[in-house]
Formats: sequence, C-alpha cells, structure tokens
Amino acid sequence: MSTPAIEILGLTKDYPVGFWRKRMVRSLDNLTFQVEEGEVFGFLGPNGAGKTTTMKLLMGLIYPTSGTARVRGRSIDDIQMHREIGYLPEQPYFYDYLTARELLDYYARFSDYSAAERRERVTRFLGRVGLADAGDVQLRKFSKGMLQRAGIAQAILHDPKVIFMDEPMSGLDPVGRREVRDIIHEMKQQGRTVFFSTHILSDAEMLCDRVAVLAGGKLQGVGAPNEIVSIEVHAMEILFEAHEGRPLPAGLASHATQIGGRTRVEVPESDLYQALHELRNCEARILSVSPVRPTLEDYFLRLIGREKANSHAVEVNSR
Ligand SMILES: Nc1ncnc2c1ncn2[C@@H]1O[C@H](COP(=O)(O)OP(=O)(O)OP(=O)(O)O)[C@@H](O)[C@H]1O
Ligand SMILES: [Mg+2]
Repeated sequence: MSTPAIEILGLTKDYPVGFWRKRMVRSLDNLTFQVEEGEVFGFLGPNGAGKTTTMKLLMGLIYPTSGTARVRGRSIDDIQMHREIGYLPEQPYFYDYLTARELLDYYARFSDYSAAERRERVTRFLGRVGLADAGDVQLRKFSKGMLQRAGIAQAILHDPKVIFMDEPMSGLDPVGRREVRDIIHEMKQQGRTVFFSTHILSDAEMLCDRVAVLAGGKLQGVGAPNEIVSIEVHAMEILFEAHEGRPLPAGLASHATQIGGRTRVEVPESDLYQALHELRNCEARILSVSPVRPTLEDYFLRLIGREKANSHAVEVNSR
C-alpha cells in the first residue's frame, strides 16, 4: 500500500470560551480517517461541524488538543510538508491594493522559481481561473467570485501534490461553480489529491470519490457518496393513472399525491407487490415503478435533525 495522502489520527480540538476563557468546548472529537493519494475527497458537515477547525489544524494554523495528522507521510508540524500542499482558506483575505498578478507573484516567491518562470506561471494560472483580463486590477475592485478565483489560483500555483480547499464553491454562481468543478477534475487527472469542504451536496456527489460526514465535531461516516446514502432504508415509488370510478383502497389513497393527472405513492419495498396487486384490482394504469434512492441531501437533513435532538456542546474540564 502506498502512503495515504492525508492521515488524520485522533485529532481533537477544545476551544476556550466565555469572557474569562475558563470553559473549554470540544469542537473536534477524536477525528480519524485517511485520504488516499489521487482521491477527490469531500468533507461535509453543517455549519459549526468543525470542518474549518480541521483544515486549520492540518495547515498548522492552530494546534490540536490531542491527536496528530500526516500529509504524504510527513507530520503536520514539518515545514517541508507545506511546500507540497496548496490551501484555499474559507475567507481568503488579501491586501486590497495589490493586483491579482502581484498577489500571485508574491505567493510564487515561496517556491524556487526564476523571475521568468514566475511570470509565465502567474499568467498561466490567471488564465486557468478565468482572470486573464483582470490580472492588473486591484483586488479591492474584485467581486466575491473573482476573489475566490484568485484564491484558487494561489492554492494551485506551485503544482501542489495535495490541495486543501475550504468551501471552494462558496459565493460562486453556477458558472463559477462549474469552473471550480472543472479545476478539481483537472487536478485529479494530473494525479493530485483534492480535499475540500462543501455545503453543496450535489457538487460533492458529482465530484468526490469518497466523502466524510462530520456533525457536532464527530465523524458520522466515510465512504463513496452512494455507500453513505445506501445505509438508509429504500422505498419504492409507483406512478399510475387511476381508473375513473374505481376508488383506491384507503391504505394507498391516504399517502397518494396527484401530479398533473397522475398519482404517485411511495411504499416500503416489502409492500410493493401488495400495492401493485391492489392497483390492478382497481384497474389503475401503472406508469412506472422505481426505487427511491435517498440523496446525500436527505441523509444530511436526517443527520442534522438527529444532531439537533441531542445537541448541547460538550464541555470539558472546567479549569
Ligand atoms: N477560535 C474559536 N474559539 C472558540 N470557538 C471556536 C473557534 N473557532 C471555531 N469555534 C467553534 O468550533 C465549532 C466548529 O467551528 P468550525 O468553524 O470548524 O465549523 P465549520 O464546520 O467550518 O462551519 P461552517 O460550515 O459554518 O464554516 C463551532 O461551534 C465554532 O463556534
Ligand atoms: Mg467553515
């Protein structure tokens, strides 16, 4: 087995809260999973789940209460590790008066490129994120979408092996999101590993080899998007045209809905044949029978519901 791109080993983070910062609240609780080389990996979770906290820990911007992590086999405290990774923060903050070209040139200086290489690279990456014509505009004149693109260019400029992106699609319109998806695909094709957090589940479903779902600082599941949702119970959807003058049996009628002249019912898989039998008896015309595949969105909403039911921030050792 090759070394995983990212190994997260029991990462835990407590933040001090309150005026005297005496209370500690656990924001990340013993997080453990790994991301393989070359994967596009989605990190999903509702607001406050601990996604940004995890990213900051991996970037060495904050320190864990316990646990550790490795990127390409190197500990996160190893400075060398940072040369091989790219990072798009959640709210990239750049100097307003720099132009996009100056900003990227600044970041490119952290790698050992010659001045000519730097110029070529900066121009190429401005083009790659759709900012070819905006390179000489000051960042304070950029829209949110343009700033996000500048942030992405900054994160991939030095050909990092592993790219971390905290909400790369946030604030982007559908075209912008599509472009970010294309960039992520391209990174994968080049053999790079992409680890990104998102709220946009359809994007995760489309892009990710695997996802991890985090809620309330705890890992809820890791797997391919369809594995994660298949944990849930399936139902069958029957679409039919009812025969006039032949009323449906009460059992079916009570959860039938009308859609433009057709009727839809959802029944548990185990009741399917019984339901079809009843429909035949009242001469309904069956249009389709299909499994109801829960989406990542359904899974997520249920998860959040459960989380809310038992949510009270876990307090640890009052000092
Ligand atoms: N510096 C801090 N001090 C105290 N608490 C913090 C700090 N940073 C984050 N938290 C808390 O830790 C928890 C996790 O926050 P985090 O920003 O990691 O969530 P997130 O999953 O990135 O959420 P979002 O989707 O809103 O970006 C939240 O309850 C948050 O209030
Ligand atoms: Mg966040």
